[in-house]
Amino acid sequence: MKKPNRFLILLAGLLVLTGTACGGSDAHSDSSISPYTLPYSVPCPDSTGADESGTPASENSDVSEETQEDTSSEENASSLPSLKDFYGEHGMKAGTCLTPQMVSNPVYSALIKEQFNSITMENAMKPDSIFNKTQSTKTGELVVELSRDVIKMLDFAKANDMAVRGHTFVWYSQTPEWIFHEDFNLKKDLVSREVLLERMESMMQQMFALLEEGGYSDLFYAYDVVNEAWMEDGSMRENKWSTIIGDDYLWYAFYYADKYAPENIDLYYNDYNEQFKGDTLVKFVNTLVDENGEYLIDGIGLQAHLYTQDDLNSYFKTMDKLAETGLKLQLTELDVCLGAWQNTLEASEKNLKVQGRYYYNLVNGILERVDAGTISMDALTFWGFADHLSWRREASPLLFDRNCEPKYAFYGAMQMKEEAGF
Ligand code: GLA
Repeated sequence: MKKPNRFLILLAGLLVLTGTACGGSDAHSDSSISPYTLPYSVPCPDSTGADESGTPASENSDVSEETQEDTSSEENASSLPSLKDFYGEHGMKAGTCLTPQMVSNPVYSALIKEQFNSITMENAMKPDSIFNKTQSTKTGELVVELSRDVIKMLDFAKANDMAVRGHTFVWYSQTPEWIFHEDFNLKKDLVSREVLLERMESMMQQMFALLEEGGYSDLFYAYDVVNEAWMEDGSMRENKWSTIIGDDYLWYAFYYADKYAPENIDLYYNDYNEQFKGDTLVKFVNTLVDENGEYLIDGIGLQAHLYTQDDLNSYFKTMDKLAETGLKLQLTELDVCLGAWQNTLEASEKNLKVQGRYYYNLVNGILERVDAGTISMDALTFWGFADHLSWRREASPLLFDRNCEPKYAFYGAMQMKEEAGF
């Protein structure tokens, strides 16, 4: 095993202590500082010599990645029941977010292949990763590209029969400032409404064309067109898109996405703290219609960044209210921290059992509704799989522990009541 890099661990520790790695007091208050770009501090155990970044020690050697991944998947196959099989019985995919490091790490990728059949790129398809600034400046037009990381993850999905959720186009965060300026030059003025609408349209047109040209279009079944546009008090979140274009930037986002997305890709609005935004979101989606009154949107993504002390009844009430719109719903970024917002709890046996029961009850309520046909949900995505890789790692929110061993939470999500901590 390669020696851990002490500087990186210290840096990660510092960020966790200062709260930046988990978003501090407001989980979403500062997602411009992305914990995802931090090195992972604790690897799952494996025999491959993976270092703390999740990169196998042999990655730079002559052994090809493909060879490594192929052999390891056999080696690491476990006897656990799988989320994808179980959710499949209810017509749903089981998803996880994905990073290129996870793909390269044989232990992580084996677990992902075993448990999940849908992926969302944790960062690589966010606006700050899809534009080529040099080419944009040179040509005077916004240039979209698929990075090596994106291609690596799409190839991984393709090779392993996994579907993909696109995430995300229009967002206030993780979006480069220069796309809002004339000539893509920060020193120049902000562009006009017309120019920004053109750039928005072009971003979507290019992305869908690139996916088609690369032979990846068919993998996609959902795309988050807009992320996090509404506040808990019902007001619209201010951002560069709204300031330059006006409030109808949201309608145009769905109008353009609908114009260019192939039929197989459902178009989603995705948000957090959804349990406080039910009425706002119902009102909002009702505005997303074309001239014939047909929806330009297909589904509402509930991020589901929850806490074990969050009230599940009010969560289900919101879900039922949103389902009445007739749109699909998906849980898109599920993780359940121990405790409450601003008061997370330690990973004691007792708290982990509470979490197992919470996952059980949450998934149980969803499956009941899916089976009864009162909500239409074709996928449930977890925001990762192992606690130490999570953006909220200090509150142990996921299904597997740092050793990639299943927690009570896993059995809760699998509806195995006895094993789930009851
Ligand atoms: C939101 C975004 C995700 C991720 C998380 C954590 O939920 O949709 O992509 O950035 O915040 O920062």
